[in-house]
Amino acid sequence: MHSPSYNPRWPRKKTYSIIVGLAIASILLIFAYRSPSISLRGIVSTSSDDPYSPHAKATYTKPTHLSSSKTSTQNPSSSSVFDIPAGLYELIEPHFHSITAQNFTSRTGKVFQLPKAARFTKPLGKQILIMDVESRDISGPGGLLDDSAPKTGDMQGLTLGRLNHYMFAMLHGYDYQLVQLPEDPTLHGTWNKVPAMREAIKHYEYVVFLDGDAIFTHLHLPLEWLLNYWGITNDTTMALAEDPNDPFFLNVKKLNINLNTGFVIAHQTPKSEEFFDAWMTCPDEHRYPGCAMWKLTHTHEQAVVNEYLRYDYPEQLHILPCNEANRYMNSGDCEGEFIGHYWPYKEELPGGVKEVMDQYFWPPLQKGYSHDRDHIVKSMKGPKDP
Ligand SMILES: *[C@@H]1O[C@H](CO)[C@@H](O)[C@H](O)[C@H]1NC(C)=O
Ligand SMILES: *[C@@H]1O[C@H](CO)[C@@H](O)[C@H](O)[C@H]1NC(C)=O
Repeated sequence: MHSPSYNPRWPRKKTYSIIVGLAIASILLIFAYRSPSISLRGIVSTSSDDPYSPHAKATYTKPTHLSSSKTSTQNPSSSSVFDIPAGLYELIEPHFHSITAQNFTSRTGKVFQLPKAARFTKPLGKQILIMDVESRDISGPGGLLDDSAPKTGDMQGLTLGRLNHYMFAMLHGYDYQLVQLPEDPTLHGTWNKVPAMREAIKHYEYVVFLDGDAIFTHLHLPLEWLLNYWGITNDTTMALAEDPNDPFFLNVKKLNINLNTGFVIAHQTPKSEEFFDAWMTCPDEHRYPGCAMWKLTHTHEQAVVNEYLRYDYPEQLHILPCNEANRYMNSGDCEGEFIGHYWPYKEELPGGVKEVMDQYFWPPLQKGYSHDRDHIVKSMKGPKDP
């Protein structure tokens, strides 16, 4: 198991031992945390009139569910509001990484350094949308909208993946939406991210789209730090990762390494509307003859980026390293350090999502155990000792 760097904010003293911590958490859980916090209104359907509320330039406030002054106001429409138990967030909050920190040590122990002074110094809050898109039924057994409250082991991998996105957004005060689009038989399902992003980028400064099998590997690392680290500029309309450097993943036209659309940071720029229009309308063949084949042929909308858009909009595209925002096991150079995208190994997705949570739980617990050794470890003579 990978252990995160020791955080000095994690309790050191005996008074913060596990038992006391658990007691406080229980008391908080029972008495203090009754404020309505997480709204499922974030889940929108494109069939409604305006799925995107007008986007105001947000001044960041700590999300109410992380606020320490927990009020007990009763929400009259509390049936549509779900209280996430406080401890879920408090487990991760002590590990929060600064947006402007020079270094970040990943789960694998690798140190990543900001290449230059941080461009983003303040939280962007609701200017960022974390977005999932789905056309399939997610109300079935183990699905995201399964009302029967599935057990962990029964949850679909894609459900766990989306919960990772949702939690990341809630922790850092970003907006979150799952956009549901009807299935279009003339287009392969993976196309649905394009109209969803095209619409959302009109309302948000940044739209981060992830496939259900792509996850944030460090929930405590804010997106703003990654924007700093990756050097996302005012001109970047879309950032996305390369596939592994393998002949199998070259595009057709110029034999460049493919770019993968499973994780996309879209940025609102003067060019974004044109860019997403060009993407969406490519199969009409007005601008790009031959593009219609990508409606249903693998790799669909991703092929449009790789065969056409990257050559017409080179300034708009920012290419991220496979090692940092994609994942291809055992390739040596595509470990998914910040975004783990489990496209070739979907069966490992549930384990990957759970491992993300493990890093906040077991290492601090072990540290507490080790710290309390004087009280809980008893040395005893062996039965054969004199
Ligand atoms: C960041 O990492 C580099 C290389 O490991 C190290 O030299 C430097 O001291 C670190 N800076 C901070 C502020 O920790
Ligand atoms: C980028 O955009 C911001 C806000 O629109 C502006 O303040 C800043 O000067 C721009 N930076 C560059 C390098 O153009």
